[in-house]
Amino acid sequence: MKILVVGSGGREHALAWKIAQSKLVKKIFCAPGNGGISQLAECVDIKADDVPGLLDFARREKIDLTVAGPEAALVAGIVDEFSNYKLPVFGPRKRAAMLEESKAFAKQIMMHYHVPTAGFRVFVDLSEAKKYIGARGAPCVVKADGLAQGKGVIVAKSIQEANRAATAMIENRAFGDAGKRIIVEDCLVGQEASILCFTDSKVIVPLVTSQDHKRIFDNDLGPNTGGMGAYSPAPVVTKELFNEITQKVFSRMIAGLNAEGIEYRGILYAGIMLTKTGPQVLEFNVRFGDPETQAILPRLKTDLVEVMLAVVNQKLSRYPALEWDQRACVCVVCAAKGYPGEYTKDKEIFGLDEAAKLEDVMVFHSGTKKVGDKIVTSGGRVLGVTGLGATIKDAISKTYSAVNKISFEGMQYRRDIGRKAI
Ligand code: AMP
Ligand code: GLY
Repeated sequence: MKILVVGSGGREHALAWKIAQSKLVKKIFCAPGNGGISQLAECVDIKADDVPGLLDFARREKIDLTVAGPEAALVAGIVDEFSNYKLPVFGPRKRAAMLEESKAFAKQIMMHYHVPTAGFRVFVDLSEAKKYIGARGAPCVVKADGLAQGKGVIVAKSIQEANRAATAMIENRAFGDAGKRIIVEDCLVGQEASILCFTDSKVIVPLVTSQDHKRIFDNDLGPNTGGMGAYSPAPVVTKELFNEITQKVFSRMIAGLNAEGIEYRGILYAGIMLTKTGPQVLEFNVRFGDPETQAILPRLKTDLVEVMLAVVNQKLSRYPALEWDQRACVCVVCAAKGYPGEYTKDKEIFGLDEAAKLEDVMVFHSGTKKVGDKIVTSGGRVLGVTGLGATIKDAISKTYSAVNKISFEGMQYRRDIGRKAI
């Protein structure tokens, strides 16, 4: 089979790495890819949301399966467009991708089908929003409805802060059109976990649990980022909680979507807050998480391509459960100087080969490019250094021993990834 992976981050490197292990696969392309991905796939210079460009390429190359990494491709309708030409794509159609494209849409579906989530109201009018915020008080959470690269959520400690956030979004369009509609929701407290499942709209097959680290600095301080590291499993999610989430979140959600005439096929990602009164959904994503994928896929023993084909062809009942490596996995993100603000680029990366030589270590590239025979930085998140270990503790020490072999000017990373799990 010929596979096309769409995207250019660490998630896509992990996907391509796992796909390359499939006995079904002869050739992998990646659009646009990065310096690391180019070691196992042929990178083609087409942007992830350029659906016409991707379609041309897939038709020309007779691609057997396309795997959409980022939401941009899905929201742009890659599945709908490719399906017109009978080209299989792993991921939901545009209408189903609305779950990530519009938080208000996701909340309405959740409310209607009794999926546990924080109480909320939707606003397009700033004075209405402020009136509500004033009446309900703080803390509260103000969210831009649309896609804002993980930056459109403000957990406000005071009414003033919430009003400022609402003004920035609705009036000043701080997130462009993504913030012309906002959500004001109740503030939840608890530990967070990421739970993902495969679904073909008939059957739900959950993946192992994981936890992301969103803040830039140790001890969850500083601004939010795309994710500075992840680990799997997340021991806070007990077996009972896991079953509760499968039932109350995924089963209800998929049944609800079916009732709305929306057939969801692909991966569904739920960001969950484990509150005192039970798990509550923070958000849905219609794709794999980044960097959760880097911590999950090294544990997957089942052939990923077989599972993806089963999802696409609605034969997922053949895979009632996936086979997992019982070891723990930790991914530490090495970021460029300045990230998540303006960051430096084009810094040569040293020690990659030495790190990769360590047993049970994978170095996934997020923002790198190949220049001659050198690998240089090209993004804010640069690498996801990943290690497996018998316990979380072992995985942590394995991963950091690999991180210690790698360097580039201004490299920053958190020293506490996975510590919460010990
Ligand atoms: P989201 O993109 O909706 O997952 O929000 C990003 C982050 O904001 C989450 O990972 C949480 O840390 C935080 N957050 C979102 N919604 C809430 C909420 N209702 N209560 C408390 N924190 C929240
Ligand atoms: N790690 C969070 C996300 O992928 O959205």
